[in-house]
Amino acid sequence: MKPVEIKKDIFWVGAVDWNSRDFHGYSLSPRGTTYNAFLVKDEKNTLFDTVKADFTPELLCALAQALGENGTLHYLVVNHLEPDHAGCLDCIIDRYHPEKIFCSPMGEKALRSYYHNSQDWPIEVVPSGASISIGKRTVQFIETRMLHWPDNMVSYIPEDKIAFSSDAFGQNWASTERFCDEVDRAALHSAMADYYANIVLPYSPVVLKTLDALAGMNLDIDMLCPDHGLIWRGKDEVAYALNCYREFALQKPRKKAVIVYDTMWHSTEKMARAICDGLADEGISVRIMSVKHNHHSAVMRELFDAAALIVGSPTHNNGILPLVADVLTYIKGLRPQNKVGAAFGSFGWSGECVKILTEHLETIGVEIVHPAVKVKNKPGHDTYQACFELGKAVGQAINAKLSA
Ligand code: FEO
Repeated sequence: MKPVEIKKDIFWVGAVDWNSRDFHGYSLSPRGTTYNAFLVKDEKNTLFDTVKADFTPELLCALAQALGENGTLHYLVVNHLEPDHAGCLDCIIDRYHPEKIFCSPMGEKALRSYYHNSQDWPIEVVPSGASISIGKRTVQFIETRMLHWPDNMVSYIPEDKIAFSSDAFGQNWASTERFCDEVDRAALHSAMADYYANIVLPYSPVVLKTLDALAGMNLDIDMLCPDHGLIWRGKDEVAYALNCYREFALQKPRKKAVIVYDTMWHSTEKMARAICDGLADEGISVRIMSVKHNHHSAVMRELFDAAALIVGSPTHNNGILPLVADVLTYIKGLRPQNKVGAAFGSFGWSGECVKILTEHLETIGVEIVHPAVKVKNKPGHDTYQACFELGKAVGQAINAKLSA
């Protein structure tokens, strides 16, 4: 890739992954993604993060262009050890033999367990608050533990008012543009919310503490560079990104419900539609999401700002259908807050589905606001009415909660 100068002598040297669709093996990335790395040219040329191993040639090419064929890379800063940013550390170290490699205390532990050949690497652990000089510039390190891995840290250069924030404030977004102000804002916001909902959400309490800590440090930032997607340029844009993260972390629900279900002979599906009618009757915006047609990360994106989760499955082998179990397991791990809900489903002879679904909802932390509805084999008018009433009851619970 061609390096892009984003400030004087500071270059984006990352890679664009246009074909990424399965992000880290569990989340969709429908627009592709980028692996951002940044080079600062100073007395000590310093590289902040690297790229996924598949893109090593592109990073080497960008570095050769920015540094010159025989240029020297003096320092390497590893803000995050996940392999999409540190998967080619060994190649970069073999090629450039940097004098020092900086990482957080937890970063060193991760680095040693990823790279068993790192005994002789010149690693220097930098605690939070430490700073180094790279010439005309200073780099300050701020540990952001569990945002979203134990090793994450932010690197800040006060002379340039620029912060490299690793995964925080990023988006899965492949494009020729490099800055957030160059693309459609609504689409970008949705991509950032998608990334947050599927990757950062469980660490929302840490996000709030980190945002408060950053505010307390009074850092003067006019460029915020995440490791994925586009760069926030200008103080207004930086404030926008910080505010979005605060909003995301607070998890205030909208007047919206998600009905997730699977079905065998369409009985549970018909129940979902009757429940939807009840919710709509209370003025709630509803997403009906069949797990056969919606990936669990797409469900999570919709659930992220919803006030209710209503889940349905027929009874299958004394349990629930496996794709419903998949989405519920995924949702549970992401620990969404502030949801109400209920369960529903059809059965042939034993009918355990709604009990199991209710237990899942309770484990996720969903407040059950109406008894489950179940039907043997095929719904009739009575069942449709019961489903409609379930939808209305959940809708009323949403309205009461949002107006409280
Ligand atoms: Fe983009 Fe946590 O890696």
